[in-house]
Amino acid sequence: MAFTFFFRDQQVLERVVEHLLPVLSGRSHPRVWDAGVAMGQEPYTLSIMFAERMGHFAFKNLRIDATDVESSGQFARMIETAEYPKDELERVPGGIVEKYFEPADKPGYLRVIDTIRRPVAYQRHDLLSFQEIGQGYSLVLCKNVLLHFLPPERIEVLRMFHRALAPGGLLRH
Ligand SMILES: C[S@@+](CC[C@H](N)C(=O)[O-])C[C@H]1O[C@@H](n2cnc3c(N)ncnc32)[C@H](O)[C@@H]1O
Repeated sequence: MAFTFFFRDQQVLERVVEHLLPVLSGRSHPRVWDAGVAMGQEPYTLSIMFAERMGHFAFKNLRIDATDVESSGQFARMIETAEYPKDELERVPGGIVEKYFEPADKPGYLRVIDTIRRPVAYQRHDLLSFQEIGQGYSLVLCKNVLLHFLPPERIEVLRMFHRALAPGGLLRH
């Protein structure tokens, strides 16, 4: 199982979100690509951070494309159900769990509420295909992934991200 958790690199993600707010408010359908998301904690963290800071209308139009190379479908199912063990959420900042999670059917688990799940769309994607999943992204986020690649692969992946970004968009890796 890949290593990730809710609100990992919280300060970095908050700075990214703050930086993007004026950019996103000028777009009718703001899009974010979060690449290498593992079990989904990172795109749901982003969704929570945007929900906390964006107006209702702008948040309604936000889409976060979450991708990972994992091929068994396990990550896809976890992101789809959005259920996470309660003890994993202990480090989440105060008030967030009460506001954005609800009891899941599975004992000991909490589910991300629909408002936060709705913007997040998962698809399987291999970054080493060097084929972007789309264009016009205001943000491409790819954290703790590139270190697994060889230097020439990193260069091609960064070129791909550049093609995927909208003018003035932000890449954070
Ligand atoms: C350590 S996790 C990072 C999760 C999250 N971004 C974070 O920072 O917490 C690394 C993820 O990169 C994914 N990954 C590795 N090689 C990849 C590739 N070629 N294309 C897409 N994802 C890849 C792994 O499946 C894993 O889920």
